Amino acid sequence: MSIDSEKPGDPHTAVWHEVDGIVEHDNKLPNWWLFTLFAAMFFAVVYWLAYQTTGALPSLRETYRQDYAEHVAKQAAAAAARPLNDETLMALSKDEAAVARGKVTFTAICAACHLQNGEGLVGPNLTDNAWIHGGKPMAMHLVISEGVIAKGMPSWKATLGDAGTKDVIAYVLTLKGKNLPGKAPEGTVE
Ligand code: HEC
Repeated sequence: MSIDSEKPGDPHTAVWHEVDGIVEHDNKLPNWWLFTLFAAMFFAVVYWLAYQTTGALPSLRETYRQDYAEHVAKQAAAAAARPLNDETLMALSKDEAAVARGKVTFTAICAACHLQNGEGLVGPNLTDNAWIHGGKPMAMHLVISEGVIAKGMPSWKATLGDAGTKDVIAYVLTLKGKNLPGKAPEGTVE
């Protein structure tokens, strides 16, 4: 049985249906609900026009690009503020964290030829004051980065990268002058 009728006396229920005992009312939607619906639709149009169509406001992607460019510029400025020279490398040799990182690298890679404490084996003793290529930090930087291939010292710049090279130099600088017994001094005494 189905009834479509006005239900007298109920102000909210203009029309109601009943099918097999299930009643369906056709109520007016509450205003607060309609308000959120239309507000959301309005917001969507404004958002779409402002961010995606006219470009009046920067999109998230655009904001990200700008932030990223700023970040890169800041990094470059910071790197330029720390130039690579004898002074900055000497300063790094006083930085315990850098020296500790350099020691890990030295033990893993360099000790094979320079021995655990730098006393020398295939490679020269790094704890004496005699240097084949010079004992200044930048002289070490050149030898370690480029190597002396003909004499059996490999180039390390590809393996260590900029930061890794600096760290290992910081460590080697702490060995300098320890004069551990090992390979006889080679090169010129500083
Ligand atoms: C395969 C062996 C080998 C390894 C590994 C090696 N070196 Fe050397 N290194 C040498 C030899 C050989 C020389 C001497 C080059 C020459 O006679 O010109 C040398 C020279 C040097 C010098 C210059 C010494 C001087 O008297 O001027 C430094 C500094 C140095 N090595 C640091 C390192 C560091 C740091 C590492 C690790 C990242 C390393 N070496 C790894 C073999 C090696």
